Amino acid sequence: MTSTRPPFNIAPSILSADFAHLGDEVKNVIAAGADWIHFDVMDNHYVPNLTFGPMICQALKPYAKTPAGVAVPIDVHLMISPVDALAASFAQAGADYISFHPDASAHVHRSIQAIKSQGVKAGLVFNPAEPLDVLEWTIDEIDLILIMSVNPGFGGQSFIGSALRKVELARQWIERSGKDIRLEVDGGIKPDNIRQVANAGADTFVAGSAIFGKPDYQAVIEQMRAALTF
Ligand code: DX5
Ligand code: ZN
Repeated sequence: MTSTRPPFNIAPSILSADFAHLGDEVKNVIAAGADWIHFDVMDNHYVPNLTFGPMICQALKPYAKTPAGVAVPIDVHLMISPVDALAASFAQAGADYISFHPDASAHVHRSIQAIKSQGVKAGLVFNPAEPLDVLEWTIDEIDLILIMSVNPGFGGQSFIGSALRKVELARQWIERSGKDIRLEVDGGIKPDNIRQVANAGADTFVAGSAIFGKPDYQAVIEQMRAALTF
């Protein structure tokens, strides 16, 4: 089977975008080379911050395409508890991937089913102090593993080094499963550490402040791709 999928995905987090111009920010960062749009949902309950919900996702969906009109996946990262009802709303709002934190759901398997039953890809997210144990009973059901390299809730934090060891472990889980599962890392990723994260086994890289904090998004994304060129 051949695939046109790039080996690495750069997923700018619009958490650090200009909220007064979100449609243009999504359009511009895709024109600058983004592969996915990372959409951070916070509820002021599971995490101490509050962002945006399904209505904003739905409003941004028409902007999530390349200048040539090719759809760009919306990668919804739920930092909310409970999970299931809003996950379904995000599926209806056009999300392509929906990931949640297992410790935010009373019934992890049921939450995965709630996402997959809507025809959307499902992911599990692991905080810096969370073990990967739940994968033993869920890896056959999921499409994405997201390793947090900061504590969730805010952009602009520093990369937590122990995440690299967890990425290596997650890559082993994926290889043992034989499944096509994306391995994403979120928090503190910049052009100068992205290569290290890739070397640990990640294929998808969230970056918020590193991209939206600079005036030239394309220049940052190109620096990241250059660092990823083996
Ligand atoms: C943090 C979010 C991240 C955040 C990353 O809870 O999940 O996606 O936007 O921001 P940076 O890249 O600035 O660490
Ligand atoms: Zn995130």
